[in-house]
Amino acid sequence: MTALQTPVADAPATRRPLTIGPHTVDTPVVLAPMAGITNMAFRLLCREFGARHSADDGGLYVSEMVTSRALVEEHRESWRLVTMGERERPRSVQLYGVDPVTVRRAVEMLVERDRADHIDLNFGCPVPKVTRRGGGGVLPWKSELFTRIVRAAVDAAGEVPVTVKTRMGIDADHLTYRDAGLIAQEVGVAAIALHGRTVEQHYSGEAHWEAIADLKQLVTDIPVLGNGDIWSAEDALAMMDRTGADGVVVGRGCQGRPWLFADLAAAFAGSDERVQPSLGEVCRVVRRHAELLVEFFEDEGRGLRDLRKHVAWYFKGYPVGGRMRHRLATMESIADLDEKLAELDHSVPYPGGDVEGPRGRAGRPKRAIVPEGWMDSRELSPEHSQRLHEAELDTSGG
Ligand SMILES: Cc1cc2nc3c(=O)[nH]c(=O)nc-3n(C[C@H](O)[C@H](O)[C@H](O)COP(=O)(O)O)c2cc1C
Repeated sequence: MTALQTPVADAPATRRPLTIGPHTVDTPVVLAPMAGITNMAFRLLCREFGARHSADDGGLYVSEMVTSRALVEEHRESWRLVTMGERERPRSVQLYGVDPVTVRRAVEMLVERDRADHIDLNFGCPVPKVTRRGGGGVLPWKSELFTRIVRAAVDAAGEVPVTVKTRMGIDADHLTYRDAGLIAQEVGVAAIALHGRTVEQHYSGEAHWEAIADLKQLVTDIPVLGNGDIWSAEDALAMMDRTGADGVVVGRGCQGRPWLFADLAAAFAGSDERVQPSLGEVCRVVRRHAELLVEFFEDEGRGLRDLRKHVAWYFKGYPVGGRMRHRLATMESIADLDEKLAELDHSVPYPGGDVEGPRGRAGRPKRAIVPEGWMDSRELSPEHSQRLHEAELDTSGG
């Protein structure tokens, strides 16, 4: 569990529903947008688990990020990424953009085509090829540009609520979350989510939950959501209690563990029931995930290839040998998958331990790569503006 560096003694024990614009969910939990992970198949799987303990599916489930430019330019693949299943309501779409005009147009298109009930703006991407041009997690440093982008989205969205997801800042000396929170509140954003890391931290070390507590104290008119290092339902409750946040955003903790949403919904409903799957039950979830991926991609081979990256996460902590993991990571069809899953000992009970700890991306801090002179001013210079447009050409998440 994440350590809090500065304890927040009087944070209330919050068990309230979460309201984002017109949407209220009893379970104040959001599936974090994750590029390459939170497609319709994975969202549905998480939602199915969330629904076990909650009439409204246990929270909100956000799409993987799409760029505003790709939507405006009618890229088929990006429009497909924002496709939602019939039971996905509200439909939460995450948008990434660096230019107010393009963001405005993309939001207008999403609304005109009735493709979203909630739009989340991504200001957290730490990937060097994005930040080196001034995009992603380093963009809020240019506070006027940040304001224009968010305002453009809110204006264009009309009744559809817009939320902002950001990191603490570029590095410890260039924090932006306080300004971003106040700006977001001022321009009419429906909620702000803070990942308690700087861009420099990437996914390393521990999330600074105290920054979430700090933002919650500062931004009082809209919900503040906390993000970072929730590996269990108990972590989610602890984050709410220690930070006073209005909800939690859960990313890596559910990779290969979509049943975490059942645990979260149970925990917020006051139950201590937790899913502790045997190996056989994990196999059934993997099989369900495969079916949903094949449906989503409308292509069996593609669906199974996409599943491969999830396999190591699913079996983390279970006694599945390297050879078998390797074979599972080369499957091409559902029949192939079934054959391999059948070879596993389905009676192996839940092992606990490693299954519950950190998973997914970690790594080390890396100095944030920003355009030369970026940190000198919070105003956007014409040269920086020029380079910024390239920051949307090629992105890969937050
Ligand atoms: C594989 C991967 C892809 C991600 N893609 C996105 C994305 O598209 N948009 C975004 O805002 N954040 C993205 N993130 C960041 C997560 O939403 C989340 O902020 C981060 O993982 C911290 O939360 P966690 O500790 O619960 O994982 C991504 C993270 C991972 C690990």
